[in-house]
Amino acid sequence: MTPHQTNALQQLAVLFNGEGEILRAEQLAAQLNIAFYQAVAKETPENFFLCYRDGCLKLLDKELLKKGGLMVEIEPRPGEQRSFPAPKQGALAQALGKSKTVVDATTGWGQDSLFMFRMGFSMLCIERSPVMAVLLEDAFARLAHCEWVQNLQLDVPKLLVGNAIDLLAKLETPPDCIYLDPMFPPKRKKSALAKKSMQMLHELIGQDDDREQLFNAAWQATGKRVVVKSPDYAEPLGGKPQQSFSGKLLRYDVYLKNG
Ligand SMILES: C[S@@+](CC[C@H](N)C(=O)[O-])C[C@H]1O[C@@H](n2cnc3c(N)ncnc32)[C@H](O)[C@@H]1O
Repeated sequence: MTPHQTNALQQLAVLFNGEGEILRAEQLAAQLNIAFYQAVAKETPENFFLCYRDGCLKLLDKELLKKGGLMVEIEPRPGEQRSFPAPKQGALAQALGKSKTVVDATTGWGQDSLFMFRMGFSMLCIERSPVMAVLLEDAFARLAHCEWVQNLQLDVPKLLVGNAIDLLAKLETPPDCIYLDPMFPPKRKKSALAKKSMQMLHELIGQDDDREQLFNAAWQATGKRVVVKSPDYAEPLGGKPQQSFSGKLLRYDVYLKNG
């Protein structure tokens, strides 16, 4: 575990507020080896809480305790077509090209993975933060219960928990694409992390300072290509890419094995 991850767990507790079975919440606290509460007071030392609420696992900070909290959202994004597979359109789909199998080595809140899943890519997800991993496990279980997923008999993304730098080297079959979206340092402190979900991730996990090592591991392990999502101001992670597709304030750099 990195010092950031240890630090993240020290700031975190499980809160049971009456929804569902208390045993499940207690088990989650035991699994993560963190404190368990049935109420939070001002003096409670932790700043972040995992809580089963509204039928899913949510991450709350003290500010959000009374509001909804954040979960891994499995519904299509606004404006996205709801049919399956959704059309392979936009900068991300262009960057993935003809790939069929994709490993998302930096799954985070799972939004890119789930978008790729809905476009019909076969997804394997990797996440090293134990906090994000439990939120993702909860989301993939919810996804597996969705009627449309069951009717179409789809395999929901699989999650591997651990450092992708090690796990990618152990893949039995090289995927067509390894997708990377590590945390880059924000350009300006306030503007760059406008979304609450990314602010919380940053507070909990910090930056991903081993981005270059991760790129090298991905390059070794991929069958055909590595796609790196980065903010538009950041230098390309793997040197000059063969292709680059721009989205809003971001870029998908494509590195082709036989390019
Ligand atoms: C910017 S977030 C990814 C956001 C994600 N693309 C989404 O759509 O929600 C980066 C995530 O990658 C994870 N990560 C970074 N480096 C990693 C590594 N070497 N192994 C596994 N996970 C990693 C971090 O823990 C963090 O959760």
